[in-house]
Amino acid sequence: MLAATVARFSPDSPLDGLEVGQRPEPEEREHWSTVDVQAATLNHHDLWSLRGVGLRAEQLPMVLGTDAAGVAPDGSRVLVHGVIGADGHGVGPRERRTLLSEKYPGTLAERVAVPTANLVPLPDELSFAEAACLPTAWLTAYRMLFGAGGLTPGDRVLVQGAGGGVATAAIALGAAAGLEVVATSRSAAKRARALELGAAHAVEPGERLPARVDAVVESVGQATWAHSVRSVRPGGTIVVCGATSGDAPPAELTRVFFNEIRVQGVTMGSRDDLAALVRFCARTGLRPVIDSEVPLARVADGLARLEAGEQTGKIVVLP
Ligand SMILES: NC(=O)c1ccc[n+]([C@@H]2O[C@H](COP(=O)([O-])OP(=O)(O)OC[C@H]3O[C@@H](n4cnc5c(N)ncnc54)[C@H](OP(=O)(O)O)[C@@H]3O)[C@@H](O)[C@H]2O)c1
Repeated sequence: MLAATVARFSPDSPLDGLEVGQRPEPEEREHWSTVDVQAATLNHHDLWSLRGVGLRAEQLPMVLGTDAAGVAPDGSRVLVHGVIGADGHGVGPRERRTLLSEKYPGTLAERVAVPTANLVPLPDELSFAEAACLPTAWLTAYRMLFGAGGLTPGDRVLVQGAGGGVATAAIALGAAAGLEVVATSRSAAKRARALELGAAHAVEPGERLPARVDAVVESVGQATWAHSVRSVRPGGTIVVCGATSGDAPPAELTRVFFNEIRVQGVTMGSRDDLAALVRFCARTGLRPVIDSEVPLARVADGLARLEAGEQTGKIVVLP
């Protein structure tokens, strides 16, 4: 089958380590199912993998990709929950939590094998491409807002780096749930897009906000951390899921302790969170923001766009 793999690590120029070519079919395992992938999406995680973060050389070549929607062996439409081992699904109680493409081959392929319990039924309202946006970026944003962030309708939230996959998801989900969303972006075009997605305000990174927020959705890291600490209200929460621009910002400890700010990490979400997110989208009519679609054979173009930070929303890959 055709698949996109990390062939070698390339820390400075991730695309140099990418290979798209023929790979063996997924291994059959008890309590696992092989899904015919109809759509996958790209995440920053794929670039980290190509740089060598989270993988060992002896695991190469590793099929990339954490998100997919497709057809299960029984012919039903399904969404793949990409977290393996969190609940012991099909892999035994001692399985360490990993994401697809970290230990087991990922979704940038014609077929992917996952524990059968990781399959979430896909309602007809959502297309395969829309659904494939949900399992990583949208699931993480969902948990950041409504789980770790503890936000309820009417609350204020700051979303840093408005163009990102997690960020666009947080803006759209937050607005649909009645939050007052403030977004930052380096790009005027992306700020305009954030307003179209439902943000109440869109400002440049570092700009003073109209009012302090109850929580911050932080996925940019070093470049925006100080602004996040300054923008959250006393007793508020900064929810962090990533550090695209680096993870060594000044900690701003004085503000953290003086204002009794909570810093809460999030990694993905549970299968139940994903099923709830699918229901949220199906019932409200909210749909993931799709930046562009590329065929699997040209996945390098999509990864280059992601690396350059040119996208608004998710880049869909069609096998
Ligand atoms: N913990 C988890 O489960 C989890 C899940 C998903 C993602 N993540 C992590 O979260 C991060 C974002 O993921 P993603 O897939 O949403 O990535 P993405 O689509 O590549 O978005 C990154 C965004 O960060 C902003 N940005 C990048 N460099 C910046 C800089 N130097 N200064 C200011 N802003 C900058 C950009 O926004 P603007 O261009 O609009 O400024 C960019 O669109 C990644 O590090 C990823 O690994 C973690």
